[in-house]
Amino acid sequence: MGWKTLDQMELEGKRVLTRVDLNVPIKDEKISDDTRIKKIIPTLSHIIKRGGLPILVAHLGRPNGKRNPSLSFAKISTDIEKLIGLPLIFAADCIGTTAELAVTSQKTGGVVLLENTRFHEGEEKNSISFAKSLAKLADIYCNDAFSCAHRAHASTEAIAHLLPNCSGKLMEQELLSLEPALTKPERPLTAIVGGSKVSTKLDLLNNLIQKVDTLIVGGGMANTFLLAKGFSIGASLAEHKMKNNACMILDTAQKAGCKILLPSDVVVAKLLNSDVENFVVPITDCPSNLMILDIGPKTLENAKGILVNSKTVIWNGPLGAFEIKPFDQATNILANFVSNLSYNEKLISIAGGGDTLAALNNAEASDGFSYLSTAGGAFLEWMEGKKLPGIAALE
Ligand code: 3PG
Repeated sequence: MGWKTLDQMELEGKRVLTRVDLNVPIKDEKISDDTRIKKIIPTLSHIIKRGGLPILVAHLGRPNGKRNPSLSFAKISTDIEKLIGLPLIFAADCIGTTAELAVTSQKTGGVVLLENTRFHEGEEKNSISFAKSLAKLADIYCNDAFSCAHRAHASTEAIAHLLPNCSGKLMEQELLSLEPALTKPERPLTAIVGGSKVSTKLDLLNNLIQKVDTLIVGGGMANTFLLAKGFSIGASLAEHKMKNNACMILDTAQKAGCKILLPSDVVVAKLLNSDVENFVVPITDCPSNLMILDIGPKTLENAKGILVNSKTVIWNGPLGAFEIKPFDQATNILANFVSNLSYNEKLISIAGGGDTLAALNNAEASDGFSYLSTAGGAFLEWMEGKKLPGIAALE
């Protein structure tokens, strides 16, 4: 562990600039998913219990360095206060006298929430002078936003060099769960990768085939691999231009000793529609007018066979068009299978990414998983084997 944790910091009487991820979905001026907010509570409670003042610093959306009232924390600060259950003072700017005043007027036991950092150009430019203005507000920098750690921004990177720094409780939990899974996993290690496109997950696939024992490929991206192997995929969506890349991945995987499980049977239908008639066909027999919308039962059994013999699984991406029933079936069955194995401590299971968590929730399988990451882009970059700047700065 190359970074300091909150437990290792002296917090009594200290102002703790705490980078959190409050980039939450908002619908009709209300937070529609509060998972990220609830996850920062252990860090805030810890800082307060130890006599420190948490100063929350975060971004919302992508305002491109300009003030944008629709992306202001002002509208949701009361909801945030209720969710964290602590007295909160909102500062209408994240730097300067407005922010300084909020910090000096908050009492011990409360928190300060600073306005969206991305209202300032310096944030995304990772500007040292902007980071210095943030640093003026505090004595310690605590990063609790793993899901923003793939951004080299002033509040995630530059600031860490200006103050004594540490990880927050959520960051610590993410790193302790994720790091060993790819660096020294309990083997056999399996990855399940789905989703629609090979092109968006090229780096991820190339990294995984060097690390995992078996890669299970599903979702629309499996179609591109099937094409590369010479199968006819009917009217299915696929990235024809990525055929060569898919061939290269299959070839490299073989050389690296990584087995790849592709669908051997598939669920096909004329349209992506819940009322439409659907059929299971072997992949050697995909009708030219139908689309592949899920993996078939034989493939599912093969995947279960692999998982029952695995010790660790990392999952990103659904196996079928899970938003439309019944094409969520294979994802649901496999998610529950993994969840049960993990619940019975037979398998360490890690999943992350927005679509993946939605698919696991849809399957009502989230509870059994060993670890679900709150991160989207950062989780993918971690799976790609990249060093995340927000983590490197803490080290
Ligand atoms: C996320 O929602 O994944 C993080 O908050 C990062 O947001 P960004 O992609 O706008 O940097």
